[in-house]
Amino acid sequence: MTEPVPERIGDYEIVEEIHPSGSFANLYKAKDRREGFVAIKRLRDDFLNDHADFADLLKKEKGILTDLRYGPHIVRAIDYMDKDEVEDGKAYLVLKYVNGENLRGICSQGETLPLADVVRYVEQIALALHYAHNRGIYHCDMRPENILKRNTQDGKVELVLCDFGLAVKDSNNPADPKGVALPWPKSLNLTENYRPPEQRGNSWIANAQSDQFAVGVMVYEWLCG
Ligand SMILES: Nc1ncnc2c1ncn2[C@@H]1O[C@H](COP(=O)(O)OP(=O)(O)OP(=O)(O)O)[C@@H](O)[C@H]1O
Ligand SMILES: [Mg+2]
Repeated sequence: MTEPVPERIGDYEIVEEIHPSGSFANLYKAKDRREGFVAIKRLRDDFLNDHADFADLLKKEKGILTDLRYGPHIVRAIDYMDKDEVEDGKAYLVLKYVNGENLRGICSQGETLPLADVVRYVEQIALALHYAHNRGIYHCDMRPENILKRNTQDGKVELVLCDFGLAVKDSNNPADPKGVALPWPKSLNLTENYRPPEQRGNSWIANAQSDQFAVGVMVYEWLCG
């Protein structure tokens, strides 16, 4: 269902809705006096109606991104506004705006990319994941839609990993290969293609290898179509 685009959210002036938006959330490009452009994420009403247990998803995402705030190639969280802070009674996560396209937009299913681009992408994605995994955080939703590509001022290509909405934190032992049990129903998760073996059948856990499996699938698709 299409939701109306607000003119303002808190102190932020909305510029436009970001397309394509996600399956859980709407995103808006907005202006901030200090940060320049930001991306504001709001959970969709229909998602919240079906999954009332996940009302705190954006708060959790903010917490994860705060842990990862110095990580390379990881989107920056700027602000979180809870339900009681905004007139419309909804929660919002404010992110640094990435001026680019997601990797699904630059390579549709069935298309391939030059090997040199794939190598450059994997290097950057691996740096982001290495940083997160060392802190016991597994992204759990690695796919091209959740990786943005932007051009830097000096003409280089930079990838930015976004959408930590389903990320989990292993606070016991980040190096434990058994990983953590996923806290949401199986129906919520993941595009089937990127789902690792430990999230199939009766198994429902995530570890560092789960994210690496999804990267492997992306590399296969980029090279073989
Ligand atoms: N900081 C950002 N700057 C610009 N665009 C962004 C930013 N973060 C996300 N996007 C774009 O918005 C889309 C949806 O965002 P996001 O993946 O966070 O939402 P979601 O509803 O959790 O998605 P999903 O469908 O993966 O569950 C992304 O695929 C990406 O193209
Ligand atoms: Mg997403």
